[in-house]
Amino acid sequence: MAHYNDRMQKQPPPGDGSTNVVTLRPVEDGDLPILYEHQRDPESVRMSAFPAREREPYMAHMAMIRANPSNMILTILFDGQVAGSMFSWEQDGHREVGYRVGREFWGRGIATRALAALLQEVTERPLFGYTAEHNIASMRVLQKCGFVRAGETKGVLNVGGELVTEVFFRLD
Ligand SMILES: CC(C)(COP(=O)(O)OP(=O)(O)OC[C@H]1O[C@@H](n2cnc3c(N)ncnc32)[C@H](O)[C@@H]1OP(=O)(O)O)[C@@H](O)C(=O)NCCC(=O)NCCS
Repeated sequence: MAHYNDRMQKQPPPGDGSTNVVTLRPVEDGDLPILYEHQRDPESVRMSAFPAREREPYMAHMAMIRANPSNMILTILFDGQVAGSMFSWEQDGHREVGYRVGREFWGRGIATRALAALLQEVTERPLFGYTAEHNIASMRVLQKCGFVRAGETKGVLNVGGELVTEVFFRLD
């Protein structure tokens, strides 16, 4: 089976001096120390309501999901720098998307442009995105890419034991 990542052609940043360029490519080993730091940033953890992993479990988890050919496990590059990650995977019979941007890169339209780029390659529909109800930025990213709020789940436990409603968005 071809790896899903193969759909995402390696897109080197244009060598024409343009700036603010967002590209996606499969995660490489050298990205992992940076992506590890992104997922343990306390504000990022709070927003996503997803607990951070310690280094060893994080590296093991990444190795496992990168080896699964039905997953798309991508690095977001901003002007060639590792700025975040963009994932797509199958769960419960449907395909989902998820993303994280390093805090120093927030608010520059990077997640929105990265998700739009992913949607060019991942053509299955419907696609789903889940996000904590307090995560206004993530909901905006989904909405700006055409996703529509489609429901909510019973809630997930955030760090600190707070019960957070999770909402899901759908793109047809
Ligand atoms: C959510 C996240 C990916 C957004 O990344 P980003 O590159 O900053 O997003 P964009 O710059 O594309 O902004 C998208 C929209 O969110 C808004 N936004 C960004 N940060 C925001 C914040 N902290 N609060 C409210 N709105 C915010 C932007 O203004 C923009 O909306 P607008 O066009 O209506 O103004 C980033 O904050 C992040 O990685 N957070 C932690 C991990 C996470 O929550 N992942 C998603 C889990 S489902």
